[in-house]
Amino acid sequence: MEISVQQGNIAEQAADCIVVNLFEGVTEPAGATGAVDKALNGAISRLIASGDFSGKAGSTALLYADGGVAAPRVLVVGLGAAEKFDTKAARKSAATVYKTLAKTKGVKHFATIVHGAGIGGLDPAAAAQALAEGTVLAAYRVPNYKREAPENGPERCTVVEFDGSRVATLAQAVQRGAQIGAGVNLARDLSNEPPNVLYPVAMAQRAQAMAEATGLRCTVLGEAEMSALNMNILLAVSRGSANEAQLVILEHAPAGTEQQAPLIFVGKGITFDTGGISIKPSERMEEMKHDMSGAAAVIGAMQAIAQVGVARRVIGVAACVENMPDGNAFRPGDILTGMTGKSTEILSTDAEGRLILADAVAYVARFEPKAVVDLATLTGAIGIALGTQAAGLFDNNADLEAALMGASAQSGERLWPMPMWEEYMEPIKGDMGEVKNSGGRGGGVSTSAKFIEHFTEGYPWAHLDIANVAWSTTERDAMTPKGATGFGVRLLVDLAESY
Ligand code: BES
Ligand code: MN
Ligand code: ZN
Repeated sequence: MEISVQQGNIAEQAADCIVVNLFEGVTEPAGATGAVDKALNGAISRLIASGDFSGKAGSTALLYADGGVAAPRVLVVGLGAAEKFDTKAARKSAATVYKTLAKTKGVKHFATIVHGAGIGGLDPAAAAQALAEGTVLAAYRVPNYKREAPENGPERCTVVEFDGSRVATLAQAVQRGAQIGAGVNLARDLSNEPPNVLYPVAMAQRAQAMAEATGLRCTVLGEAEMSALNMNILLAVSRGSANEAQLVILEHAPAGTEQQAPLIFVGKGITFDTGGISIKPSERMEEMKHDMSGAAAVIGAMQAIAQVGVARRVIGVAACVENMPDGNAFRPGDILTGMTGKSTEILSTDAEGRLILADAVAYVARFEPKAVVDLATLTGAIGIALGTQAAGLFDNNADLEAALMGASAQSGERLWPMPMWEEYMEPIKGDMGEVKNSGGRGGGVSTSAKFIEHFTEGYPWAHLDIANVAWSTTERDAMTPKGATGFGVRLLVDLAESY
């Protein structure tokens, strides 16, 4: 998907389709929509008067022009109530436009105005960024393993702005939105890839290729290197797998920030979770290829952070491991001691995410972080608590929590704070080891977070349980496809800029 910005009049654009908009309740269109309406001899006004189109959010009407405008088609998109229009609505309307045009086979290139620029509190740059994000997110396609090429939607979009003095600002915002959207789509690709294709070494290679293309520094530790660091808890999870575990470290440090205390993201990258010896039921086990979505979000966010050029030092760590059962696998009852020297007792080999994170959050202490945020598809229980409406937020620092809630509001990726009371340590006190990796069903989301916290070392830390939002079994809306959602990428980019 290629998006560019041009000064001009939308009515004069020789694209396959031009896109204008309408707020709900408007009977006489003004601005660019009004100009196109006049050029079409009032066709849009008549459409409204007929009652067939009211500007409701998510609605569209396609008109076939017979002269008057340069393009053969005009799409009118409803933006809903003007007072409710925000960046989220702007993103969604752009995604709706893309999906509608993708069904219109003749449209490869469309031209659009920026929806809602200058309306209410929405500044033109924010509206333009949202337009680009929504378009790129809607244009996402899953990796294709079929012999037949998939049908392609529009490939080019020209954003048209009449006011020449705005063009440079809008162009920058559109580029930013497209870069962030590409980061989300990278995370989706990684998460959607089949588990035989995307095993830990393959995931590390993709991260490395991305780093080379964007100028990030990339270090990959294999099992021998992790063993030398005593990362024995992480390595135990990997023992039942024929695929070697990898710890991927991506660093973004623009000139002058090399000495800054970094913001660090850590992602759970279980490329497939069978449950290990505590094996999962086979029904829907195939969805466990997405169990690396936290790590995928970190890699996607790091790409976007590099491309956008965030002005601070950020480190992304992806802990990539496959959880399999075999003769070498770790067992329930095992006692493991990792990097911190704290012993842990294994009750379930299926509670493996917190195990690999225990060593990963201990590893990042060496960077003397300003803050650490981990993302993990950690528990089925988070979906019981929150449905698919928000990821669970667990932390030990009020400033970091406030910054994350702010980034959540900005990005539209919802978080909801969950309790971290000391009492949640009780159920995970071990009998022989200091802690155990499962505290039973009650309070399972909070005890899993407490387990990870136990291995953090003094720095502000937050944990996002994204198990309920990282993938979807249905298409949720025009920008959220079936399969991997890429949840977390936009949130992390926002946090990196605002914290
Ligand atoms: N990857 C799963 C969590 C998960 C389950 C994500 C279902 C999405 C859908 C995780 O490794 C796991 O198996 N968690 C267990 C923990 C339990 C054994 C303490 C769970 O949630 O059942
Ligand atoms: Mn598991
Ligand atoms: Zn898992």
